[in-house]
Amino acid sequence: MKTFNMDELIAYCNQYGFIFQGSEIYGGLANTWDYGPLGCRLKNNLKDAWRFYFIQRRENSYELDADILMNPMVWKASGHLDGFSDPLLDCKECKARHRADNLINSFDETANADAMTQQEMLEFIKDKRIPCPVCGKSNFTDIRQFNLMFATKRGVTDDSSNTVYLRPENAQGEYVNFQNVQRTMRTKLPFSIGQIGKAFRNEITPGNFTFRTIEFEQMEYQTFCKKGDDESLYDYFKEYGKEFFEYLGLASEHLRYHDHEKLAHYAKAACDIEYLFPFGWGEINGTHNRTDFDLARHQEYTGKTMEYFDAENNERYIPYVIESTYGLDRLVLAVLFENLVEEDLEGGDTRVVLKIKPFLAPIKLNVLPLIKKRHAEKSKELHQMLSKYMMVSYDEAGNIGKRYRRGDAIGTPFAITIDDATLENNTVTVRERDSMEQVTVSVSELIPYLIERL
Ligand code: GAP
Repeated sequence: MKTFNMDELIAYCNQYGFIFQGSEIYGGLANTWDYGPLGCRLKNNLKDAWRFYFIQRRENSYELDADILMNPMVWKASGHLDGFSDPLLDCKECKARHRADNLINSFDETANADAMTQQEMLEFIKDKRIPCPVCGKSNFTDIRQFNLMFATKRGVTDDSSNTVYLRPENAQGEYVNFQNVQRTMRTKLPFSIGQIGKAFRNEITPGNFTFRTIEFEQMEYQTFCKKGDDESLYDYFKEYGKEFFEYLGLASEHLRYHDHEKLAHYAKAACDIEYLFPFGWGEINGTHNRTDFDLARHQEYTGKTMEYFDAENNERYIPYVIESTYGLDRLVLAVLFENLVEEDLEGGDTRVVLKIKPFLAPIKLNVLPLIKKRHAEKSKELHQMLSKYMMVSYDEAGNIGKRYRRGDAIGTPFAITIDDATLENNTVTVRERDSMEQVTVSVSELIPYLIERL
């Protein structure tokens, strides 16, 4: 059995309609990717799984859909305008632009650029004469902080007072609506607000396909609690995140925790869950103890109270926030790497199969007439009937073996074949993707049979 490397996965995604290069016919735009029909299905199934795990299964848990554009003062208060930046330097020889911390970490695996100041990074690069990865020379400019937020203008005048930002994280939408949700849902602490939505960052470093992009989707989850309950909730969400990934089918040996030494400006503690991608360990989730930082700042900048009234103890306080955040695009990538294999079959043949959990599969069932002329009509009738219950595809082109293989390659857990027996006694052959076993099932039993196994 063979797993896929990055180039093979990119080719697979393009061949089967999961992910295409963004603006492909114009030569693309760096670090942008478009999700095709199967990629959309997979993404939506992951969103549904997150909703089930975080919104439906947990008590006092509410979903929100806040706008991407927010009042720019939000980003002043949150600290993103002043502090959300990367340390960049340019090669004076070839003009290539690099992140100083990446230069250091990839030159010396034992060095920890995250723990260095800007001055320490510059001295390290000079002392070790770290070469430019593009031209090999070691002649760099000073380090400058480069803000990652995309700015745009609203209105008709090109005036700096009209500058608005594409949000770099979902979280602020949840913070500024904390009281709206608390009031309308009549809920008590601890309660949570989750949101799925796009975020934007002007990343200059190479992306590793969809791992690092300039536009991406986050599934963020903020739990508001009383100070003192924050540390146990932080530990709880670290565990819950790993449990969620295992529920999605990521193997525990491909997951690890990475506690942060250098913390974001808002955090008292932070830990990532990393997945073992073919290019190495990469963050797919973060748990952050954001204390009362964000709410207190919004109170300070708006003059509006962000306090919660604790009726049981007759006290008012600004809640602490534990954030549990998931990168949806990175999760799609991890799920594809985890499940995509090329398998050896008897007789020296091979097949590509995406052994994804059935509830995540883009298509649940493939309906196949054995002989197009004789069985297409009945097959189309069954396709119509079954598509009320699940995502079903219909395929009548090519020999049956090839049609099975295409379904395997995109992870379709079941195929049904319609043949003369269907016309005579209303039974179909159901083939299962992983075992390739086939059983005969009566059409009247088909829906419960499939739903139980999906
Ligand atoms: N609200 C906190 C926050 O945004 P983060 O660690 O910067 O924290 C959260 O981002 C998640 O978003 C990460 O764990 C990662 O999965 C995903 N993510 C961050 N930057 C990304 C990028 N440039 N491309 C794709 N996904 C990204």
